[in-house]
Amino acid sequence: MASDFILSARGLRRTYGALHAVDGVDLDIRAGEAVGVGGPNGAGKTTLFDLISGVTPASSGEITFDGRVINGMNSQQLFQLGLARTFQVVDGFPRLSVLENMLVAQALGVATARRGLILRRRDRERAMASLDGYGLADIAMQPVAEISALQRKTLMVATATVGNPRMLMLDEPVGGLTPPEIDEFIQLIDRVRASGVTIVFIEHVMRFLTTVADRAVIMDQGGLIFDGAPGDMIRDETIRKLYLGETPVTEDAHEPA
Ligand SMILES: Nc1ncnc2c1ncn2[C@@H]1O[C@H](COP(=O)(O)OP(=O)(O)O)[C@@H](O)[C@H]1O
Ligand SMILES: [Mg+2]
Repeated sequence: MASDFILSARGLRRTYGALHAVDGVDLDIRAGEAVGVGGPNGAGKTTLFDLISGVTPASSGEITFDGRVINGMNSQQLFQLGLARTFQVVDGFPRLSVLENMLVAQALGVATARRGLILRRRDRERAMASLDGYGLADIAMQPVAEISALQRKTLMVATATVGNPRMLMLDEPVGGLTPPEIDEFIQLIDRVRASGVTIVFIEHVMRFLTTVADRAVIMDQGGLIFDGAPGDMIRDETIRKLYLGETPVTEDAHEPA
């Protein structure tokens, strides 16, 4: 019998020499949840993502995704299982066009099955249909180096969701966007979520975290120091100290120092 949780981590730990970057984390994520991960620089957020998404091996602990233990699997294998992840620095191939980036993502997503990167006309049609769904069809032939920041972020989500993942992990997805662009990106993530994808993201921008997440997980020094409703963070004593020092809390004090 499968559990309710799409992802479970138990005693997850990653050390770098004497440093405990992730220090014995227990975390359960339900299918369909949108979980925002916050906390100061160096808290261990990206390392936690690296452990879950197969980028970095755990020093100890166990990770279960969709009912199976995934320790030791690499990102490619996890992508095939339905766990997709984006990076803090938007990657992609800047000299290739939007469409070519989409074709590469598609081909990598099925590379194991097909044992090669042979592109057929229907691959192109499928890529164009996906780009159309994300509002990127008009710029399909433009090199990624020439498109806007919001378009690059949108393409990042489009390429990550190419294999219809069950869970999508985003590391600081709205970094570098203006407030109106963040609002557009929020709508994009809402649409992805409405299609049933579980979303776990790291974000410093409190407006994004509180708008998109129905659960906030805050890390500090490798551990979880808060796990609950985003609206309850502002009332949490530990969070207030961490984010706001000793200053009085007001409703609009949403940005961390
Ligand atoms: N490859 C690495 N080698 C050594 N130390 C690392 C490595 N990756 C991360 N760290 C350290 O682990 C801690 C957590 O880093 P990170 O997970 O990137 O934090 P966050 O994403 O919350 O800012 C930091 O002290 C960082 O310097
Ligand atoms: Mg980080």
